[in-house]
Amino acid sequence: MNFRPPTLIIAAALSGSLLPAVLADASNESSEDGISLPLPLTDQDFLYDSAPDPTLVELGRNLFFDPILSGNRNISCGTCHDPAFGSGDGLALGIGEGGVGAGPERVTVDPITGRVPRNAQPLWNIGARSYVSLFHDGRVEALDRDDATGAIRNPAGSDLPTDIFDPLAAQAFFPVTSPIEMAGQHGENPIANAAQHEDRREIWSILAGRVAATPEFLDMLRGAFAEIKTTEDVTYSHIAKALAAFQTIAFRSDESPFDAVLRTGDLSALPTKAQQGLSLFFGTAGCSSCHSGPLLTDHQFHAIAVPQIGPGKGHGGDMTYLATTGLPSRAEDEGRFRITENPSDLFAFRTPSLRNVALTGPWGHSGAYSSLEDMVRHHLNPVASFAAFNPSDVALPPIEHVQRIAARGSQFRFEPLEVARRHAFDLRDTWVMASPQLRRRIVDSNRLAPIELTCEEIDELVAFLHALTDPTAVDRSEMIPNRVPSGLPPQPAARD
Ligand code: HEC
Ligand code: HEC
Repeated sequence: MNFRPPTLIIAAALSGSLLPAVLADASNESSEDGISLPLPLTDQDFLYDSAPDPTLVELGRNLFFDPILSGNRNISCGTCHDPAFGSGDGLALGIGEGGVGAGPERVTVDPITGRVPRNAQPLWNIGARSYVSLFHDGRVEALDRDDATGAIRNPAGSDLPTDIFDPLAAQAFFPVTSPIEMAGQHGENPIANAAQHEDRREIWSILAGRVAATPEFLDMLRGAFAEIKTTEDVTYSHIAKALAAFQTIAFRSDESPFDAVLRTGDLSALPTKAQQGLSLFFGTAGCSSCHSGPLLTDHQFHAIAVPQIGPGKGHGGDMTYLATTGLPSRAEDEGRFRITENPSDLFAFRTPSLRNVALTGPWGHSGAYSSLEDMVRHHLNPVASFAAFNPSDVALPPIEHVQRIAARGSQFRFEPLEVARRHAFDLRDTWVMASPQLRRRIVDSNRLAPIELTCEEIDELVAFLHALTDPTAVDRSEMIPNRVPSGLPPQPAARD
């Protein structure tokens, strides 16, 4: 684990303003006595009590950066969760398989069938036990954390193997099944073909076979799991568990100035402006009613009318896109509603953790805001901010070649999209924001009441958000291996 970043030593100031409040539990309720802050993070807040078997972590590290898990062997988890770009990709909406390059420099080269519809989530502290649900809409979710049988609601239902108990391990089953993210387009490889039929078990079995057939991986797997003797013993569950163990260690980040405050109760670890920002955040600005606890998230879902850019998740009741363009798709992203079908969840997204938030832009579930201040200002009056938003201010990475989606089960033929349809394809990126009716749906679902803050107060809040940056998280490229067991170039490439 030589990639574990050095611990930052924070000099506890001898004098300085001590917090006017008791360091209370994670409930974060303001009280008349002052503000109460969450307890600091400890090893026990994380899976494996932060001490997974180092062999398992090392296996996970190699899997995370090895393109072997992608259908066309051209993209890894690390491509979109890049340790030099806040554990995201620095793009509003990223480029999955078929692209080249790292971070905001990434461009498409091969024909693809669609855009990744949501902003790549940062992975900071993703191994915390408090993460009961994963993804912007929480579609991978431990229904009862204390249930040892580990019922996990997930998009594959009962296809998910029963030896998976942690949402984080469960999550690792899914990026590999998405044609756009990792599987590839129908006709290109057996994994992509299985993805076309949503045959997830087939995908996981092909991948387990691929990894097990790589001698170096098999050695690592044997070292990490006593039950593995031969290649036949390897399942995708082993891969997923290793990825979860690695992410728990690699993306833990609790060495920010804010952590120093939580540990010592001494506010002087923050610049003065950020101290004011902290008081607002946990006090009158009301931020901590949702961004609560040590990770600054309640892990709940709220509709706050963040604009949608990009194609959306391709669901929703509205058929105008299909009716107008003839392209077999829908354009909205209804967020949590997709999972629960509860009308109060329409356009609600999981409250993001704000740790290292200054490093994780663009912000919002579709990366609509490329300035942190604009993202904060959005919260002051979501409806007015939504109205003022101009989608053409957002530069989505261009997609050079669009390929037709082959009909289910049909013989694959590569055919570029015809010119007229190509135009329609591009229209989908702004379809929702261009439709008064669809805009209204988002605005009507907003649950965040307006508040008034002065420009100075907004500055202070932004200064506080910067104090959530852990200096060791700015660039963790040292975790990228120089080479990976498949012999393919690691993604992203190791950096000096
Ligand atoms: C093409 C880019 C891409 C690739 C490749 C990719 N991810 Fe992601 N990841 C995303 C996006 C986008 C989301 C949010 C998706 C959503 O909410 O629908 C996400 C979400 C996640 C989350 C949930 C985080 C949270 O806060 O809930 C985890 C964990 C994660 N990815 C891990 C992985 C792992 C492990 C791999 C490799 C097996 C991987 N990702 C590959 C783009 C990618
Ligand atoms: C009602 C709950 C709620 C309150 C109160 C709230 N937020 Fe948020 N915040 C959210 C949700 C939900 C999102 C994600 C919305 C989306 O992407 O659609 C979010 C997103 C953010 C983001 C972007 C994070 C990212 O990774 O994209 C920032 C920054 C942020 N909030 C800061 C604040 C600040 C500062 C305050 C106080 C002024 C605040 N929030 C108050 C729920 C809330």
